[in-house]
Amino acid sequence: MRYLTFALTKGRLASKTMELLEKTGITCEEMKDKGTRRLIFVNEELKLRFFLAKGPDVPTYVEYGAADIGIVGKDTILEEGRKLYEVMDLGFGLCRMCICGPPEARELLNGHGQIRVATKYPNIAKDYFFNRRHQTADIIKLNGSIELAPIVGLSDVICDIVETGSTLRENGLEVLEEVCPLSARMVVNQVSMKMEDERIRRLINELKAVL
Ligand code: PRP
Repeated sequence: MRYLTFALTKGRLASKTMELLEKTGITCEEMKDKGTRRLIFVNEELKLRFFLAKGPDVPTYVEYGAADIGIVGKDTILEEGRKLYEVMDLGFGLCRMCICGPPEARELLNGHGQIRVATKYPNIAKDYFFNRRHQTADIIKLNGSIELAPIVGLSDVICDIVETGSTLRENGLEVLEEVCPLSARMVVNQVSMKMEDERIRRLINELKAVL
């Protein structure tokens, strides 16, 4: 039997995934060693392999077949636009993609003039402003601390993830519009879905049973 390979999003999503898999009887003892710098972990008995990657790289590993299965946020799936099957909502990592800004930016959003939008998700922002709102927007790509942008005058609004809302509150910003709800998803390589159909379907059913 060949290894079934999982690409996990490093950090909280990976820990949550392993917790969920444990409930179905899938464990990976090697991964529990918090001090380890290893990137690949194996369960020999079940012929499973797990590796940890940066979120935006997970869909890439899955599309190219370097991983059969990926666990990644819906935000990343939308942003990366890779060819893969999204097979399951895992129900954790719940948050929302929103357009946020200072209250006075509401007027700009309701008008039809140019608006400057800072974001880590340029494709999601473009799709939202151009295709859904039919509004001209100047999309500015940033890599983090997006809330800074409207405060220091780089942009009018941001397109970003809101989880508890505390980053917004503590910086005098608010949710102006919701783009879409987000959560962790399981994605599958298109060839693996055919070649490993039985193993993958069994896994999905076992996960559904414990969710
Ligand atoms: C994310 C997101 C917001 C914040 C939202 O940033 O970009 O800044 O979390 O969470 P909250 O609603 O619970 O406050 P992250 O912590 O991933 O860091 P980043 O600034 O590097 O994007």
